[in-house]
Amino acid sequence: MSKKILVLPGDGIGPEIIAQAVKVLEAAADKFGIALTLEQDDLGGAAYERYGTPLADETLERARAADAVLLGAVGGPQWDSIDPALRPERGLLKIRSQLGLFANLRPALLYPQLASASSLKPEVVAGLDILIVRELTGGIYFGAPRGSEVRDGRRFAYDTLPYSEDEIARIARTGFEMARVRNKKLCSVDKANVLASSQLWRAVVNEIAADYPDVEVSHMYVDNAAMQLVRAPKQFDVIVTDNMFGDILSDQASMLTGSIGMLPSASLDANNFGMYEPCHGSAPDIAGRGIANPLATILSAAMLLRYSLGRGDAADAIEAAVGRVLDAGLRTADIALPGEKVVGTAQMGDAVVGALNVV
Ligand code: IPM
Ligand code: MG
Repeated sequence: MSKKILVLPGDGIGPEIIAQAVKVLEAAADKFGIALTLEQDDLGGAAYERYGTPLADETLERARAADAVLLGAVGGPQWDSIDPALRPERGLLKIRSQLGLFANLRPALLYPQLASASSLKPEVVAGLDILIVRELTGGIYFGAPRGSEVRDGRRFAYDTLPYSEDEIARIARTGFEMARVRNKKLCSVDKANVLASSQLWRAVVNEIAADYPDVEVSHMYVDNAAMQLVRAPKQFDVIVTDNMFGDILSDQASMLTGSIGMLPSASLDANNFGMYEPCHGSAPDIAGRGIANPLATILSAAMLLRYSLGRGDAADAIEAAVGRVLDAGLRTADIALPGEKVVGTAQMGDAVVGALNVV
């Protein structure tokens, strides 16, 4: 039976990078005899322009009916001054939350070919392979009350950071499960010296740890974790953390790998239904110029095959093909060193398809 994939290119560089990922996904599907049906729709600013809302109900229904969603990126300065409730990012947050995609996997893997593209010394990052497991549907992103108002003639705004024990337990389990099939080390990152939600977080992670005696668990405050990620990043295997800390630390971890343009992500529900997107944003400054790095989106398509379609074979092949184009010296501008030849978005996509078809 054909698997249905909903493709949401989004805004900015989204359509350009998605075009390459779709090309690679279709080539991999062909090669491995996977029947795919791709449907396309809008999210974010593009959806606001088309439907008057950053996530239309019909798009959400299409996503629910699909086996997986492949997303580009959302947002752009042209929507900065619209009603905040209709901003492109609200569409992204709503689709994550409505689909129950609480487990966000953000691998920070250094391709050895790019060791010198990292801003850290090659020996600090060589062999780096971290997985950040970010809680994605709770915490300060969704907490109520939130708002802004005038109090005593002064503007005032507030957010709330709530976590229930069930929300913490399920993301902790994801972290432990991931660690179990990797290097068996889980570091839970919080701010338990200050925040009540973090104190509960730490307590629940410790309770869940009892079910995973084979995994070594540690705890770290987020400020220290930010420092350790730059000082000695290879001490980490799996990091599990809340929504906002995960947002920040995953951007930071991405630079260890040379470029945020290399980082894919998977956002999963309890049944491995998922939405797959690069960790980077819509990069409006370079949109439409054909120079964006499509590899994070291509690698997200690989994660889609692995997690939602159970096709690790096809995912491995895409990841190997990406390794091969890097071996061959192909670089988009974000990962090129001075003097290296730079290719565009489509050339990079074509090269990955070409590398997939060798072997
Ligand atoms: C990310 C992004 C989003 C987030 C934004 C665009 C809402 O930064 O996926 O990391 O904060 O989750
Ligand atoms: Mg982010």
